[in-house]
Amino acid sequence: MNLAARKKEFKFKNTDTVALFVGEKGATDYRKALPPEFSYVNARIDLDFFKGKQSETAFLPFADNPALMLCGLGKEEEIDGESLRRSAAAVAGLCRDKSIDKINVIAPDIESIDPAHILSSLAEGIYLANYGFDKYKTKKSDEGKPRLASALFYTAAANPAPLLAKIKIVCGNTLLCRDLVNETSEKSDSRAIALAAKALARLPGVTCTVYGKKEIEKMKMGLLLAVNKGSKRPPQFVVLRYRGDRKSNKYFTMIGKGITFDSGGMNLKPTGNIEDMRTDMAGAAAVLFALKSAAELRLKKNLYALLPLTENMLSNDSYRPGDVFTAYNGTTVEIGNTDAEGRLVLADALAFAEKKLKPDCIVDIATLTGACVATFGEHTAGYMTPDEDLAGLLEAAGAATGDRVWRLPLLKDYEDNLKSDIADITNISAEKNAGTIIGAVFLKNFIASTAWAHIDIAGTARYTKQRGYRPKNATGYGVRLLLELVSNWTG
Ligand code: BES
Ligand code: MG
Ligand code: ZN
Repeated sequence: MNLAARKKEFKFKNTDTVALFVGEKGATDYRKALPPEFSYVNARIDLDFFKGKQSETAFLPFADNPALMLCGLGKEEEIDGESLRRSAAAVAGLCRDKSIDKINVIAPDIESIDPAHILSSLAEGIYLANYGFDKYKTKKSDEGKPRLASALFYTAAANPAPLLAKIKIVCGNTLLCRDLVNETSEKSDSRAIALAAKALARLPGVTCTVYGKKEIEKMKMGLLLAVNKGSKRPPQFVVLRYRGDRKSNKYFTMIGKGITFDSGGMNLKPTGNIEDMRTDMAGAAAVLFALKSAAELRLKKNLYALLPLTENMLSNDSYRPGDVFTAYNGTTVEIGNTDAEGRLVLADALAFAEKKLKPDCIVDIATLTGACVATFGEHTAGYMTPDEDLAGLLEAAGAATGDRVWRLPLLKDYEDNLKSDIADITNISAEKNAGTIIGAVFLKNFIASTAWAHIDIAGTARYTKQRGYRPKNATGYGVRLLLELVSNWTG
């Protein structure tokens, strides 16, 4: 989708459609918001029906004037970047319904918000809402199809072009992330994702190493290999590097859970829980597209993205409950449940990152626990970290992007839950409570001293229904969060 911007000097053709945002206040307030060019609207339509509630829309087509799309901003004191993204998403939705492929957007003037921030929030909302995944539909219907080919913004922002260029990169990569997560596990398997990662090495500053099964065996990543045992498809371990700041030796490492299909293994998932498990690689997809965004933006940071990739399948060779495997860092792990596989592949990647790459900060992101969905639903991710600075950066990145995060405690008291009779630790808790925290407590065993945070995106990576600018199914959660996080990180 094309994004462009102009000063607020209006030149419309009668065939144009113009989106206009109005706040919720007195019933007649929005009339003042209509520029004089739109006096024909007031003359012919009683606008009292429109309340200006958050994301409320109305479509007013005129045969002899530009069509008008009204969109509510909600109460003035509640307007912020996220509410603007949501309002703009409503415009994209209406464009889809009305088969409109080019929209003129008049950015509202809101006293408390900088025009550049208003513009970027609206552009993000429209761009992210303009998405559909219909590659397997043989009968193309308009339902759920992206519609908009271009959006032209009328803005008071001083220098809009670089803002829009950045949004095109970041939001474009968020949509690509959704595509990869929505793709079937049949097609989007470990090797296919590793190939997609390899392709990024064409970008300046990016290198990519893919370790295959033999190399993973040689490196003694016993937990990644254990999870892979039941699968015909080999595991892949991807190490992407982006060197954007040659003057610095500081590195930020992102690790994403890359289970291309999670059947649960011997602890097979029941019907009702297994259907969407092709999306269990959403963490891997998020780190891949966050690194791609950083490289395309030529961000002045040094990054790694690590993707431990495998299916978790059921076969004669599957790993079993009661087995014991040795992790990359030498820790022995009893398998209490083969469905707690995400923490196993992450454990090897965390230990590898710390020992081999020696970065200054590690963040892992994973669709790790159903308990996280039970706690937060789909509205926020949960995160845990012993590091206060990193917590602050994560909170700020979540607030700025709308990829929201909420902290849970990493108390020492939980550690007893992972005691094993026969190995150093087990991969499931003796208690059934606090599942999301226990996931992080397990992972903590594989980090010795590096600043680290774990983000559980089991609820936010995939939606059971469309909300605002995020569609049903893969949401692309994490791409914008991680990019914002690494942008603000100074080490
Ligand atoms: N991939 C699942 C977690 C998940 C559940 C993601 C629902 C998205 C939606 C993970 O591998 C898993 O199966 N976790 C188990 C852990 C348990 C066995 C300790 C769970 O949450 O039930
Ligand atoms: Mg599982
Ligand atoms: Zn899983």
